[in-house]
Formats: sequence, structure tokens, C-alpha cells
Amino acid sequence: MHERIVILDFGGQYSSLIARRVREAGAYSELLPYDADIKRIKGSALSGIILTGGPSSVNEHDTKECADEVFDLGVPVLGICYGMQYIAARFFGAVERMEKAETGIVKAGLNEHAVFMTHTDRVIAAPRDFEIIASTQLSPIAAFANDESRLYGVQFHPEVQAVADGIKIIKNFLKLLCGLSLDYSPKSLADGLIKDIALTVGSGRILGAFSGGVDSAVASVLAHKAVGDRLSCIFVDHGLLRKFEADEVMRFYHDELGINIIRVDARERFLKRLEGVVEPEAKRKIIGEEFIRVFEEEAKKLNADYLLQGTIYTDVIESGTKTAQTIKSHHNVGGLPEDIGFKGLVEPLRMLFKDEVRLLGESLGIPPALVWRQPFPGPGLAIRVLGEVTEEKLELVRQSDYILREEIKSAGLLKELFQYFTVFTGIKSVGVLGDKRTYDYALAIRAVHSKDAMTVEAAELPYPLLKRISSRILSEVKHVNRVVYDLTDKPPGTVEWE
Ligand code: XMP
Repeated sequence: MHERIVILDFGGQYSSLIARRVREAGAYSELLPYDADIKRIKGSALSGIILTGGPSSVNEHDTKECADEVFDLGVPVLGICYGMQYIAARFFGAVERMEKAETGIVKAGLNEHAVFMTHTDRVIAAPRDFEIIASTQLSPIAAFANDESRLYGVQFHPEVQAVADGIKIIKNFLKLLCGLSLDYSPKSLADGLIKDIALTVGSGRILGAFSGGVDSAVASVLAHKAVGDRLSCIFVDHGLLRKFEADEVMRFYHDELGINIIRVDARERFLKRLEGVVEPEAKRKIIGEEFIRVFEEEAKKLNADYLLQGTIYTDVIESGTKTAQTIKSHHNVGGLPEDIGFKGLVEPLRMLFKDEVRLLGESLGIPPALVWRQPFPGPGLAIRVLGEVTEEKLELVRQSDYILREEIKSAGLLKELFQYFTVFTGIKSVGVLGDKRTYDYALAIRAVHSKDAMTVEAAELPYPLLKRISSRILSEVKHVNRVVYDLTDKPPGTVEWE
């Protein structure tokens, strides 16, 4: 990295969004906790610091504070929302609680620029030698600057996309004030991450958990470029994968790229443990546990120093919410225990959003069909077979899912849909075939739009397409005599049926 922006996270809702905007603007950014050690902040090639918003108030006991040296490093510091109030208080300005919050898009300054506000404290006196550069009706000091000490603050949120000029403000900070060249790209990110891995691991060996999904695959390609044959990956084939899936990923990542991937055939083992198990959470737990058990057994044989995980930013957030209720216990290869005797963890994608991981994957030469794959749950098809899982039922899902994927692909809807799959409902109903009564299974088709899987909308697939999928499934998949379409949004439904 020849240029680096550090973002100190005071717990604001938009902290990760700031990091993302900085990357989009063309600079490498790192999101660190607000109280990060100054050595870690300084690191190498520090070019500027951004202090984020957050829930605390500078006037309360629980004020969150960063290392004081942050202001002595000589690099520009931009405070956003709480970050601005923090600078104000730190340099003897004043902050007060407002009578009512200022929220939403408001006009600021002489040019009536639209800015996005959400705050209940405001700066009422700028520190000495600070120039007031923007105000709104409720915030007379909506932005301030001190060019000499290179300190800047904005009360509003330039990172929120609704505000068109916000991105320009971030760019100006990076280019004009921090002097960055903004030449960062997925390719330079990849180079930086590969160097980081090489540096962390030294001459050690890495063990990777490989699921074939985008995150673990991109992490593995990076690690392979960093340490070559000193990376070994374990791919647990639990028999709950889609048709041809295991072969396809092995063909590319193992055969073509030459990554050392050990495919462990654990199909029988998983089915055996799932025998007679009907309850969804019980199924999930068994699969998660069995996965770890197989992984540990294989890991012992390999003797590695570091564990590679494809953890991405949303995984970090999800596992970090202590108050959220468990709707489903997600099983992730990213959720392997850390205490299985490793010197350390390697998680190169921790800071990135899914679409950034995909762009990174593309820049590493991974084919679009693999990079743009739809999300696929860790417990695989087991949670798409309602009730007890058997090989016969799995096969019905595999075949129908394959037909659905083929048809979605030829309809050109691959990138438009967030997820699309079929579900073995377990319901049997009466039908007729060649003058004979049938009593066979009903399959459901599910196709959804979503950005982040937190809320989803059932997709309005064209009716002729639905008919085509349905008639192909009914004629090509044995023991299915009925196909239904799932119209449920999330909430109240979830994406997967179990
Ligand atoms: P739900 O069904 O909770 O799914 O609405 C939200 C998203 O998460 C995926 N999913 C999982 N992913 N391990 C995963 O890695 C899991 O155990 C798991 N369960 C659901 C689901 O496919 C959807 O994208």
C-alpha cells in the first residue's frame, strides 16, 4: 500500500459505508475500532484519518475517545457527525444537545447544497482558528475547517448515497487535502492483500476451508498467490451440494489454478447423521458440528500454522449483534472455531462487501459464472428438503434446481435475481398421468430480489417462464406431479424454507 486512509469507527450506523465510499473514490481504506492503538493507526503509508459518527455524546460520561496522538500525526483528519463534535470538544469548542433531532435531507450553506443529517447533538462554538464553512437552519456550524492544523468536520453524512455531492466531498478530502492519487483499483487491492498475507504468514503454512462459494474461493486464490503450495484447502463434500457443483469448483480452482484442494468425500457420513432428523434447527446443528469434526480430522493431518477464512464484512456484523434474536443458526465455513491450534487467523476479506469481493474475484481472473454465483447456504440442500433428508429427496431437489437454473440463465435473469431455487415440500398430492392416478410430491419454486438478504421480495417471474420451468420439472423429474410458486416476501417469510 503506498497510500492508506484509516477510518476510526465510533460505532456509527454508516461507518462501513464510509470505508466503502473511500474505496469507491479510489483510495485504500481500513476501518479500525475508535480506540485502536496508535501504532496500528500509523501503520505504513498513512495519508489521512476519518472519525465516524456514533451513538455517544461528547458531554456524557461514556464519551468514546481515540488516542490523542491521532491529532499529532500531521495527516488530515476529517470528523463526520460525532467525529466533528469530538474534534470540537477536543479543541475547546462547544457541543450541546438539541431540543429536537435534525434528520433527513436539509439545505446547507449559500449554495443550498443538499446534505443528509441525523443527529441530536450539535456544535455551537467552533474551536479557535476554525473557519465555519457550512450551516443549516438547525446547525449553525454544520461544517468547519482549520487548514493549518489540517482538521475538518462535517455534521452531515456525505457517505449516504442519497446525497449526490457527498461523494464529491469525500473525494475532495482524499485528493485535495490528503493529496492522494486515487489510483486504487480491485487489482491494486488484490496486490496489497496478497502482500499482507505473505507478510503475516512468513514461511508458515496456511490451511483453508473451501466451500466453492465466492468468499472462500477469492480468499483461497489470494492466499495461493501469496504462499503457493504452502496453502492447503479442505473441501468437505457433504453431499448437500447442487448438481455438478463439486466437480465444477474442483475443475477450476484445483485443476486449472493449481490450488492444493483436498476434496473429502463425507457424503455418507452426513446422510447417516441426518437420518430420522426432522426439526430444522436440529438439522442445522448436526451439519455445522459434523462439518467441524470432518474439518478437524483432516486439519490434523496437515499441520498448518494459520487458518484462512473467507469472512466478509457482513459476517463480522452479523456475528457481532449481541441483541439480535437467532432466527436460524447460520452455519458458515467462516464460523470455524479459532481454538483448533493455530498461530493465527488470515481473513483477507474482512473489510469488504459482497460486491467488492466479486469485483476483486473478477480482477483475479475468476470466471463470471463462479464470481457471480447466487448465495448458497452452508447446510446446502438439506434445508431445502423439508423434514427428514434422504438421498432420493435430495436428488429431486438437485434435478429440479438444475432445470430452474438453466431456464433462468437462458432467460437472461442471472444477475437480476438474488436467489432462485426449488424446495422439496414433503407434501404428496393426487395427480393423473397417462390415464393413471398418481400420488406424488409437490415441489416449490422460489425466486427472490434482495440487496442484502435481510429483506427480500418474491420475484415476479414472467408467467411463460414459470410455465416452462414447471412443465420441464414435471416431465423430467420422476415422482413430482405438482409444482407451486412461493409468493412470500421476507418478512414474514425467510429466504430458505428451513
Ligand atoms: P434466510 O433463510 O435466513 O436466509 O432468510 C438469508 C440468506 O442466508 C442464506 N443462508 C445461509 N447462509 N449459512 C449460510 O452461509 C446458513 O446456515 C444459511 N442459512 C441461510 C440464505 O440462502 C439467504 O441468502
